[in-house]
Amino acid sequence: MSGPEFSQMKVGVLGGGQLGRMLALGGIPLGMEFRFLDPNAGAGAGQTGNLVVGAYDGTGALERFAEGLDVATFEFENVPDSSAAFLQERLPVFPSPEALRVSQDRLREKTFFRSLGADVPLFAGVTSAEELVEAEKDLGLPFVLKTRRFGYDGKGQSVLRSSEDVKRACSRPLEGPMIAEAHVRFDRELSVVAVRSRSGETAVYPLIENHHRAGILRLSIAPAPDISQALQRQAEKLALMTLEALDYVGVLAIELFQQGNRRLVNEMAPRVHNSGHWTIEGAVCSQFENHVRAICGLALGSTHAHMSSAMVNIVGHLPDVEALLRLPGAHVHLYGKAPRPGRKIGHITVLAPDHASLVEKIAQVQALLPQGHASS
Ligand SMILES: Nc1ncnc2c1ncn2[C@@H]1O[C@H](COP(=O)(O)OP(=O)(O)OP(=O)(O)O)[C@@H](O)[C@H]1O
Ligand SMILES: [Mg+2]
Repeated sequence: MSGPEFSQMKVGVLGGGQLGRMLALGGIPLGMEFRFLDPNAGAGAGQTGNLVVGAYDGTGALERFAEGLDVATFEFENVPDSSAAFLQERLPVFPSPEALRVSQDRLREKTFFRSLGADVPLFAGVTSAEELVEAEKDLGLPFVLKTRRFGYDGKGQSVLRSSEDVKRACSRPLEGPMIAEAHVRFDRELSVVAVRSRSGETAVYPLIENHHRAGILRLSIAPAPDISQALQRQAEKLALMTLEALDYVGVLAIELFQQGNRRLVNEMAPRVHNSGHWTIEGAVCSQFENHVRAICGLALGSTHAHMSSAMVNIVGHLPDVEALLRLPGAHVHLYGKAPRPGRKIGHITVLAPDHASLVEKIAQVQALLPQGHASS
């Protein structure tokens, strides 16, 4: 007796970087086929599917990309509105362009979270020197000035620590519409990665602890140590509320600052997230597989963590990969990207039965990475 036919989906991903590549690696075992659109002919995802080379807003390239796809998704949030609309007229697109619009603009995003009743740092929109001076009065010093759009890895941000800094910033033209945020003296940074499917099924991974340096994520630990059940539940509630409010389909990550018993929302990413890479080996079903399951209308996989996991990013230079491979249990991921200062070119995941042995394994990995990888 044969069961109902399982159709093999053709999935299109706008963007051909490491996230696209890992989405394909998550979906290929389910028989899915992948196509990417990227302006770069050498985009690393090309090794895992068919790569259409072209601009994200080029109609010809978008048409070739969309032809015959069952569903389209994104590996980054700065998709031009017109491209998202073009695709949406032709095929199902998840997450919806509306969800992307909220996360593309930090001011709209913070306003959205505040409207959900979530705690966010004090913030204000800044479009002129006068508003910058106002921001200093309203938020106090220090505060963070960020471009409203196109920021990543801490780019387009500065911390203004004194009135002198504010005066200096006032004397220069702004980089565009900005947001000023109170500088949060957080105890640590956390993120929550959650997923919602086309049928409305949801699942949430355990909270993740994140360590950044120079604005770039270096290390994630999951499940984050010392998380009370109440905090995990609060984060789950926030994630589920956000998914529902945006009628969201796919994986969503929310970055948080923990300050004592409070947690404030920093930002969200409407896609699979660097802090969720540990799920490839560390969870029953990875964020990548769950994203493609969600957008293809399939049942979600379990978000349960096997043990404690740590993910260490490889930033800038290629380390001694063979030495890393000799570390028992180290999972090495290279993205096929040329090394460049400040660029994420791969990551390593290690698992351990308890936090103490995880810390030991992290140290072993970090000792094999080029200088400057230690997380604190
Ligand atoms: N209001 C704030 N108070 C204190 N630290 C902050 C604040 N905003 C950002 N940071 C620090 O800068 C990092 C990067 O900021 P943010 O997440 O807003 O920008 P991003 O460029 O989108 O980063 P990414 O691409 O790594 O997510 C944060 O993870 C945090 O360490
Ligand atoms: Mg961030």
